[in-house]
Amino acid sequence: ELRKDYAQIRGVYAAAIQEIDARLKTLNSEFSFRHRHNPIHHIESRVKTLPSIIKKLHSLDIPVSIINAKKNLHDIAGVRVVCRYVDDIYRIANLLLSQDDIVLILEKDYIKKPKDNGYRSLHLVVRVPVFLSSHMELVPVEVQIRTIAMDFWASLEHQLRYKETAHVPEELNRQLLDAANRIAALDGDMQHIHDQMAALANRICDLK
Ligand code: GTP
Ligand code: MG
Repeated sequence: ELRKDYAQIRGVYAAAIQEIDARLKTLNSEFSFRHRHNPIHHIESRVKTLPSIIKKLHSLDIPVSIINAKKNLHDIAGVRVVCRYVDDIYRIANLLLSQDDIVLILEKDYIKKPKDNGYRSLHLVVRVPVFLSSHMELVPVEVQIRTIAMDFWASLEHQLRYKETAHVPEELNRQLLDAANRIAALDGDMQHIHDQMAALANRICDLK
């Protein structure tokens, strides 16, 4: 029963992901045409698997059903947008949110306010319309937007966290936090250099 219900909603969430993905790609190519810069490096996405949905409902002490999953989990559809520079993150977020039919449900800015472990990313949960044969559904999608460097860090930290090893040495957490802080400084430097290069390119264009 559960598997049948999952198969049914899976398609709806996949359609919502496609919708967000298409809009992001349109914004990226338009921006690239206008400013000769691709804000998006790449996009990843996934629909949460049934075992992972069950695990999450268990951890929240919610009875396992597809109805409860739809009601309580806002990350069944997940899109990760990896950008080159920090400014690109906010640019992409603002452009996506400015679209009339996209509704922001939740925003967590872990860049302005990083997690204690050093995690940085901008998280948005949005609702996007999906048109089915009989009706329209507003489907929630979790969009994580981060730089290449933040993504590099998050994938390493994720490996550590999800290795079912009993104990993580405090020293390892300290090194990760330290690396996260240096990544933030590096992202700042890269942005600054990029801005100067863009200004230089504009001046040369004006002279021509
Ligand atoms: P989850 O129960 O993990 O989904 O967290 P949440 O509902 O409190 O939302 P939050 O915005 O904090 O995190 C959502 C998602 O962001 C996670 O599922 C991860 O993909 C990612 N994330 C959040 N915190 C971390 C972190 O400390 N490290 C890594 N690697 N990823 C994180
Ligand atoms: Mg999650």
